[in-house]
Amino acid sequence: MKVSIASDHAGYDMRQLVIGHLKSKGFEVIDGGAVSSTERFSYVEAGQKVATDVLEGRADRGIAICGTGIGISMVCNKFKGIRCGLCNNEYMARMCRQHNDANVLAFGARVIGPEIAFAMVDCFFEEEFAGGRHAERVGQMCDIEQKNFK
Ligand code: RB5
Repeated sequence: MKVSIASDHAGYDMRQLVIGHLKSKGFEVIDGGAVSSTERFSYVEAGQKVATDVLEGRADRGIAICGTGIGISMVCNKFKGIRCGLCNNEYMARMCRQHNDANVLAFGARVIGPEIAFAMVDCFFEEEFAGGRHAERVGQMCDIEQKNFK
């Protein structure tokens, strides 16, 4: 599976750790975003990179990291077809796949530590979408996108 990961400067160090974790599990990684933790890099640009990599088929799923995860998840969710879940723990990472069919996982490097991040990443890739009543709700979200997004 190909994973696009990007962050702003606040997420740079965490991104390096998560890339190492992904590679150790055999994922192909497309890296983007800040080139250091000291040079400012906007979460807006980083979020766009992840979202377009997923939407244009360069990646199967994405991981988006900023200081809180809030800004970058907002950016990703501005893209039609992206369902980005901002998660702080393993349960949320599991549920965003099972119930919401999330295709991008977001989190905050200033909010959680690397061990929680690794555990969330593992859940995000292990879990499948449950379908059923959840498919109906995800379909309703897609209807809203069709109506409101250009
Ligand atoms: C950067 O200082 C910070 O604003 C950003 O990483 C993020 O937390 C925004 O939502």
